[in-house]
Amino acid sequence: MRPWVLPRNVPRVGLVASSRSLAEKYLAESLPRRWRHVQGVGAQAVRIADAYAPDDDLLVAAALLHDIGYAPELTVTGFHPLDGARVLRSVGADERLCALVAHHSGARIEAAIRGLSDELAEFVDERTPVRDALWYCDMTTGPDGQRLMFEERIAEIERRYEPGSVTRRFLADGYDELEAAVQRTTRRLVAAGLVAADQPM
Ligand SMILES: [Fe+2]
Repeated sequence: MRPWVLPRNVPRVGLVASSRSLAEKYLAESLPRRWRHVQGVGAQAVRIADAYAPDDDLLVAAALLHDIGYAPELTVTGFHPLDGARVLRSVGADERLCALVAHHSGARIEAAIRGLSDELAEFVDERTPVRDALWYCDMTTGPDGQRLMFEERIAEIERRYEPGSVTRRFLADGYDELEAAVQRTTRRLVAAGLVAADQPM
């Protein structure tokens, strides 16, 4: 049974509302802290969305859905970007949305560490400003949904995971790519007047 279908070709507000309710359904009860983080990432996306028209709602939807693969009942491989993207594809979500979720926040690098590169290659990393913006929203939002500077976010992830863990290895390998995406986004947002140059988040 299909638990949920992401509407296509509906008024754009429908995409955001559907994405929010799907994320809430799978995360709010089972992983309340993750749900707070997701709501914070969604709020960041809403805040900067004007700089990404006509993909503004796609960005917000991806922000709301990026961590849905953490939901215990959706876990298959245990690699949440891949599990989340596959679930979205299975319910008919837009392919760009699936791929943004699959490749969010340096997932390609973590997939290599986990031996899941071939599986993740089912999805194309679009490497666009929208993709960078999704990474930015995730990397400037803490585990309770609070806004953080990029460096603070990296530090708090490091505190939550053991040295030698996959996540710590991922941060070591992926730091430069994450930072570059955040910096590209910051430049765009400063140019758009959406963030101050001296407070780039
Ligand atoms: Fe996240």
